[in-house]
Amino acid sequence: MVLLRPIPTLNALRATVRGFATAAQAGRRPREEGNISSIFTSLGANSVVLPERFAQLKRDLFREEMITSWNEVVDELEVVTEQVAEAGSNAIPRFSYADIRDGLSSEQEETIRKVGSVIIAGAVPPEEALGWKASVRSYTAENKPRVKGFPVDDPQVFEFYHTKAQIAARTHPDILNTQRILMSLWKGDSPDISMTTPISYFDRLRIRMPGDAQFALGPHVDGGSLERWEEPTFRAFYNSIFNGNWRQHNPFDADKRTEVIADLYHTPNQCTIFRPFQGWTSLSTTGPGEGTLRLLPFLPLSSAYILLRPFFRPPSSNPGSLKDWVPDLESTAFPGAVIGNTQELNPQTHPHLKLEKTMVPVPLVQPGDQVYWHCDSVHAVENVHAGKSDSSVFYIPAAPLTTRNADYLRDQRLAFTQGIPPPDFPGGEGESKNVNRASVDDAHTAEGRMALGFAAFPESIGASLAKKANSTLGL
Ligand SMILES: [Fe+2]
Repeated sequence: MVLLRPIPTLNALRATVRGFATAAQAGRRPREEGNISSIFTSLGANSVVLPERFAQLKRDLFREEMITSWNEVVDELEVVTEQVAEAGSNAIPRFSYADIRDGLSSEQEETIRKVGSVIIAGAVPPEEALGWKASVRSYTAENKPRVKGFPVDDPQVFEFYHTKAQIAARTHPDILNTQRILMSLWKGDSPDISMTTPISYFDRLRIRMPGDAQFALGPHVDGGSLERWEEPTFRAFYNSIFNGNWRQHNPFDADKRTEVIADLYHTPNQCTIFRPFQGWTSLSTTGPGEGTLRLLPFLPLSSAYILLRPFFRPPSSNPGSLKDWVPDLESTAFPGAVIGNTQELNPQTHPHLKLEKTMVPVPLVQPGDQVYWHCDSVHAVENVHAGKSDSSVFYIPAAPLTTRNADYLRDQRLAFTQGIPPPDFPGGEGESKNVNRASVDDAHTAEGRMALGFAAFPESIGASLAKKANSTLGL
């Protein structure tokens, strides 16, 4: 295990982060060139031994009440993990787009809150979604010498952000409407957020071919790793878990989440905006075993476990036991967390989750179906694609307009017009030399142009927010 780079002090990091915010007008500092592997220890990024300040951090945060919480969480996991193992893919709720259009029932909403993920079937007609994939394949052929992705020699996850098909999908009225309804599950009073105003957060696409075993993302949580404990605003989101009231933790508290800094270390692929749900829209007929997404379907309980995990270790007398764990305030261990990488989990680091049987695959989806998972949901990609045809998606998350997200939208808009990767992604010339790249003209509705940051937001979303966002965007 090697220390990869000098570790800056936390105060220096905070100063740097504030510096980015004020310097945003002049453009963000570009990230290193690369691909999706840059942030995953399991895809080759090196692991590190954490410095001593992380042991101190544990001592600073520890409270006696955590011991009771830990034991309650472990007991509850024993029951819930068995239930999920039994239910398999059925543990993930699946609703039709008609349910979205008509409005979700409170029971449906409660299910999504408890599970943390949902499948929405039928928002986009299959022919339209297959047309998007065909369009991407033409774009790939036209720009072959400049195509990049992971793995480098045979890309399955492409460094494409600016294809015409992606813009069409991101601005599709029924996809935006799905996002509006799902984001409304989050509650908040801040005038600086509108959970009913989706904006576009550009991400990649995957066309995974049968047989691929390289794009095997193990269980992980997006949006930083150590930042959850280290960054004060992020930590405050989990206050109930840290102060002994883990059952009160509300994963859908928008006010507490919107200012979180999930990227203390300026790593490529780290999402810096408030992105309530990551998601994808399917471009293929794909079922379990065919290289699809796997999800851990018990959000609040898994969050409580993950946040408490660094404070406990197995008893020295019986290191293999899942019972009688004791506080660990001496070691610097934050299992699965590495500076600058995403939070990863495996059966050794997080044994009580029983990940081998609780990470359930998304059931059969058709082209045009959407899957969304909460920003704290544990997810993974099946190790091997053992199917017979491609397993393909556009990654299209759900993100709301906030005053802070408007800064990102402005910089993303600039990257879009220049054809370079969006600010959170590995840098370089990207698609700037590609032919048949998208432009704003590929967004066919006013709402779509607004989501891309090219049209002003109306006062009806909240006069103060609209004014601030429009000013940021120069609209
Ligand atoms: Fe992820």
